Amino acid sequence: MKVLITAGPTREAIDPVRYLSNRSSGRMGFALAGEAASRGHEVTLITGPVSLPTPANVKRIDVVSAEDMYRAVIDQLEGVDIAIHSAAVADYRPKDVHDEKVKKAAEEWTVALERTTDILGSMRDPLNYDRILVGFAAETENLLPNARMKLAKKGCDLVIANDVSGLDIGFDQPDNEVTLLFKDGREEAVPKQTKEALATLLCDRIESISL
Ligand code: CTP
Repeated sequence: MKVLITAGPTREAIDPVRYLSNRSSGRMGFALAGEAASRGHEVTLITGPVSLPTPANVKRIDVVSAEDMYRAVIDQLEGVDIAIHSAAVADYRPKDVHDEKVKKAAEEWTVALERTTDILGSMRDPLNYDRILVGFAAETENLLPNARMKLAKKGCDLVIANDVSGLDIGFDQPDNEVTLLFKDGREEAVPKQTKEALATLLCDRIESISL
């Protein structure tokens, strides 16, 4: 099957040398891409800036900003059977991007931000994607209620709920402990394990989703 995966953080420019970003390492998305490719799927991995090698037999597309990632997803969407959105896309970007490096002057500097496109939230409408859709929910509070809301709101078949409040799991960590929330109401708590082991389990569950 044709699998599209987003991974890593995005960077939103303030000026030519500064940006807003987050702590995502991209490891979960890269592990998923490697596992899916090893199962014979045709995998396209759209990734923000990370320092990870490209898994074997994966087509990798490097992007920087949320807008670049959205455009790459649109470009690659034709014929996709499974879309997995593991990227930690910036929700906001600076409203004005300075052409030159901003020189320090005043004691304070306020940067106005505007919303980026919700890529996962655009898949059903306006992008009309009607195949298997998988999202992640990174939360620091009310994990399951918030993740259930994302599942419904973004039209996902599966959401992988991830508590990112601790220091030892989730963002920028080798291990992950998650709860799987399926569209049909099923829930599965998955104990702490490496992101590579989790990728194997996730591919099993995603391959078993029937539309
Ligand atoms: N996502 C996306 N585009 C965005 C923001 C998020 O595609 N601009 C996707 C992520 O890849 C993830 C899911 O949406 O699969 C949830 O991301 P998360 O950061 O947990 O939630 P948000 O939608 O950003 O909502 P909030 O910030 O309110 O928690």
